[in-house]
Amino acid sequence: MDSPEWTGVRVRKTFFEFFEERGHTIVPSSSVVPYNDPTLLFTNAGMNQFKPIFLGTIAGSDDLSKLKRAVDTQKCIRAGGKHNDLDDVGKDSYHHTFFEMLGNWSFGDYFKKEAIEWSWELLTKVYGLDPSRLYVTYFEGNPDLNLEPDFEAKELWKSVGVPESHILPGDMKDNFWEMGDQGPCGPCSEIHYDKVGGRNAAHLVNQDDPLVVEVWNNVFMQFDRQKDKSLKPLPAKHIDTGMGFERLVSALQDKKSNYATDIFTPLFDQIQRVTGARPYTDTYGKDDSDGIDTAYRVVADHIRLLAFAISDGAVPNNEGRGYVVRRVLRRGSRYARKYFGAEIGSFFSRILPALVEQMGEQFPELVKQQQDIKEILDEEEDAFARTLDRGERQFEKYAVQAASSGTNKLSGADVWRLYDTFGFPEDLTKLMAEERGLETDENEIAIAREKAREASKAVKEAVQTFAKLNVHQIAELKDKIQLPLPNDEPKFSIKFSEDDMTGKVQLIYTGTEFVKSTKDIAPNTPFGILLDRTNFYAEQGGQVADTGKIVIDDVAEFEVRDVQQFGGYIVHNGFLKYGELKAGDVVTCEYDELRRQPIRNNHTGTHILNHSLREVLGDEVNQKGSLVDQDKLRFDFSHKTAVTLPELKKIEHLSNEYVRQNCKVYAKDVELDLARRINGVRAVFGETYPNPVRVVSVGIDVDMLLETPENPEWRKVSVEFCGGTHVEKTGIIKDLVIVEESGIAKGIRRIVAYTGEAAHRVQREAEEFGKRIAAIESLPFGPEKEAEVKQATVDLNNLVVSTLTKEDLKVRFSKVVKAVVEEQKKRQKAESKTALDAVTGHFTKEENKDSKYFVGHLPISANAKAISDVMNHFKSKDKTRTVYVFGGSEAEGVVVHGVYVGTEHSSQGVTAELWAAAVTEVVGGKSGGKEPTRQGQGTNADKITEAVAVAEKWLAEKLKISE
Ligand code: ALA
Repeated sequence: MDSPEWTGVRVRKTFFEFFEERGHTIVPSSSVVPYNDPTLLFTNAGMNQFKPIFLGTIAGSDDLSKLKRAVDTQKCIRAGGKHNDLDDVGKDSYHHTFFEMLGNWSFGDYFKKEAIEWSWELLTKVYGLDPSRLYVTYFEGNPDLNLEPDFEAKELWKSVGVPESHILPGDMKDNFWEMGDQGPCGPCSEIHYDKVGGRNAAHLVNQDDPLVVEVWNNVFMQFDRQKDKSLKPLPAKHIDTGMGFERLVSALQDKKSNYATDIFTPLFDQIQRVTGARPYTDTYGKDDSDGIDTAYRVVADHIRLLAFAISDGAVPNNEGRGYVVRRVLRRGSRYARKYFGAEIGSFFSRILPALVEQMGEQFPELVKQQQDIKEILDEEEDAFARTLDRGERQFEKYAVQAASSGTNKLSGADVWRLYDTFGFPEDLTKLMAEERGLETDENEIAIAREKAREASKAVKEAVQTFAKLNVHQIAELKDKIQLPLPNDEPKFSIKFSEDDMTGKVQLIYTGTEFVKSTKDIAPNTPFGILLDRTNFYAEQGGQVADTGKIVIDDVAEFEVRDVQQFGGYIVHNGFLKYGELKAGDVVTCEYDELRRQPIRNNHTGTHILNHSLREVLGDEVNQKGSLVDQDKLRFDFSHKTAVTLPELKKIEHLSNEYVRQNCKVYAKDVELDLARRINGVRAVFGETYPNPVRVVSVGIDVDMLLETPENPEWRKVSVEFCGGTHVEKTGIIKDLVIVEESGIAKGIRRIVAYTGEAAHRVQREAEEFGKRIAAIESLPFGPEKEAEVKQATVDLNNLVVSTLTKEDLKVRFSKVVKAVVEEQKKRQKAESKTALDAVTGHFTKEENKDSKYFVGHLPISANAKAISDVMNHFKSKDKTRTVYVFGGSEAEGVVVHGVYVGTEHSSQGVTAELWAAAVTEVVGGKSGGKEPTRQGQGTNADKITEAVAVAEKWLAEKLKISE
């Protein structure tokens, strides 16, 4: 395609320049992952990052807080959650799961007039859109909410020259913008563009017509929607606008579809290069007879979502936003496979370079993280590749059954099975069904899901432990049954191959005996399976066992919960989900690859850490224990003293250098005596190793080590005896972050560290906490700040982040705490003085000179210390007089009180205890202390005046009696 006059890049740049010239500051897009807003799955509008400004809650230290006008393009995702466009993507010309929203912002600065005039000027004069094709809307009002029609906006549109026939009123749905059920909102005014022209298209506005589309929304922010649904005016009025970048570009390039613009063509070209498919022709529905154009759109849309989500830290996993990313990738993979015949495993990562090339300048995070994005995409795709084919075959069977049964309906159980066994997200299956003209039933799917959940719960309750093989049973297998030992070499292969996943059932172990079939085993009963060949990792050398499934598609499925090795025999423990398994059955062994990935990272990470420990702490460091699982690595080692922070820093740094070098990891079985000669090889003292022993070396080929085993250079390399599974190259580990260093016994220290995504997660959490400290710091002194400090103190203690970063955070936070404590002290002193001045002031007045007591409410907060300061003053400096003082207020909801009975009154039998008891009856709570003093606190703060009166009366009566 020839370069259009308005390229996407120029459109974006022009938008920025236009508003820069009008005093706006360009701000970067915020992350698509709204880390500080748990109510939101993804950032779905430009205003998300400015919400605290609108609500007036932004920290003074935040750079954004100083802005009056801003302009930006915001990365938005509308997939999953409340705004979900995933199901429409591919089918029409203007839906995207990822899009850019151009916006200009006024924070309590200009309002409607400028916003409307500028938007009109930009669209018609600068971009040169034909005014006769534009339509605008305004809010028609809502009497229920006491909202007037926005005639002001209507008049403003008229004043810029829009004819009345192009100005349309709109209701709450279209013309009152709300971020969510609560939060900032206000009436809005939209601008729509008619892609056809030469007609009056007013009746097509807001009717989901692909040729009359909303391009820009101007929101006049002035309310904060409350929980009770009422509208509370904001402290100031603001402008929030959002223009669909892709839609604007499509209008400017005079295209009927967003996909026919230069935003998507480079991606289509790349898809074509990678797949060799026919060119994109922008057809839809029935016109797209081979489905290829739809597949182009899906893949191009999805790579955008995937790359931006992953670069902002939303990595694929099984819940929340991570599952949205996973679903999108699986959906896209299946389109690529089915329509382009592409091989799945590294498909999306081959489209990625075109996206980075196209958008990397505006969004440098793509360039910076390209390698990470690629690896995550490949890992995720590779894992799905393991079941994609089989799942498709299974779907075919179900589809044929459904068609021949005459129901034309894919049963809920089938949809569930495709998810549970083959990892097909439900929406993908529904889409596949739709392609085949088959129906699905939400209700049925929900029932199947619930049934599975219950079955799994029943098993969880039943299956706590698994039986082991004892020596007699091992001997029986070896001598009597003469069962050959299994081949578990496939556990080491990293890339997916169908062959590695195939094994044959040898025997079933019921926990007491060996049988040939599962048919007599009761449901939900744990048992073990022995295979001739397996890729499952049996727990060993600190590395946890794999979990997964042993399956004969659609015939039987066994869920593997644990794998153990006994005398070379490997028992896969778990339970049968359905069907029957017998000796001789050929099965698919499917360990959970997505769980294995972090385990691999953590295992190689452990070797690297072990090596760094020796480099930094010296030769006497020896491994004393190790645990490698999917979440973390835990390493115990001999060392006399605590590892200091500077040492820890060095260890972490050295480890990460090793990681960044992206060294290849080598492994080889070596004759034990020879292996022991390798200079610096790490082995656990006292452990017996098999002969030959497996040697794992990070960075240098084991064969090379063996050429000159004694070479002093080898000490600089991590070489260990190890039977575990490792990464192919260290770069995959990404980062190693130490989160704990502690002593577990005399002379034994423990380090816990995270790698890969977990490491990135804790780094992000640390960053968020840093922001939180800054926000607390900038709060004005008061109860809110004190409460925040209190909560943050607890949270900081529980925060699992890098030990080093945590130390920094503690130092920073302790300054905030100190300032608060000092301020509290200052205020305390000031209040004590106010309190004492009030009482002594009373006695210095001429008319009270001879007065012997004071009972009264002091002008102080519920400050127990100020009360006791007053009491102590009299106790030590003015012993004869009696004081009963109160502090607090109804607003605070607390009342404090304290009494000192002067010597004169105490000799008359007045006791603090009984007096305070009379007061406590009124204010509630309790009091305590030793005669002649007593202090208390209550919550009936609305009764302070009454309590003072009661106290006065009590004394008067007491004195009367004693007279
Ligand atoms: N916040 C407005 C929207 O998302 C501009 O449409």
